[in-house]
Amino acid sequence: MGRPEYLKRHGYNNGVEFALREFRREDFESLWRIDQECFAPGIAYSRLELAAYIRLRGAFTLVAEPTASGLKKPGNSGPRFTENSPKLLGFIVAQVTRRGVGHILTIDVPSASRRFGVGSRLLATAEERLRVAACHSVELETAVDNAGALAFYKRHQYCVVKTIPRYYTNGVDAFVLEKEL
Ligand SMILES: CC(C)(COP(=O)(O)OP(=O)(O)OC[C@H]1O[C@@H](n2cnc3c(N)ncnc32)[C@H](O)[C@@H]1OP(=O)(O)O)[C@@H](O)C(=O)NCCC(=O)NCCS
Repeated sequence: MGRPEYLKRHGYNNGVEFALREFRREDFESLWRIDQECFAPGIAYSRLELAAYIRLRGAFTLVAEPTASGLKKPGNSGPRFTENSPKLLGFIVAQVTRRGVGHILTIDVPSASRRFGVGSRLLATAEERLRVAACHSVELETAVDNAGALAFYKRHQYCVVKTIPRYYTNGVDAFVLEKEL
């Protein structure tokens, strides 16, 4: 669904108001579904993998959800949350490692919620949390053919530091990207 149709369907005027919060256990199935939508087979996580990453030592998961006012349909005093309203707009899993390096394990914004700044807010908030936890830099891997993600990370001052051949189980190479915090 294109952005205008999405906005119309959900009653948004010119943007999506959202807030970040900590992951809760009941979010898990939604997060896994978002990950399945965001990544191709071979890159998307199984439920077991996603659950294991979320539980890693030093890991934290932030989710973005629409605020009540963000979901209010103009001129409509009826229920704000409808059956079709998106429950979550994206999430990020990051980890503070013992080397003092932050690691972004995944950042996922479903296609209907992209280009509204959700990914940027998730990334900036995770980076801030890593900085507070004394990480001097942050790194992540992304598929070499993921042009959207590469543009997104470039916009956020990440640099490619190396390539890992056949990193993903579908045989695609990964770039390792890094940013000083
Ligand atoms: C990458 C991703 C997280 C970006 O989330 P988002 O909420 O759309 O990002 P933002 O709206 O904050 O984008 C900020 C800027 O990044 C750049 N950008 C983001 N997506 C882009 C794309 N597909 N193509 C080109 N530039 C892009 C733009 O400069 C954008 O600013 P603009 O919209 O004003 O032009 C999202 O596309 C996604 O989840 N993709 C699938 C999963 C994935 O690839 N994750 C990253 C690998 S781990």
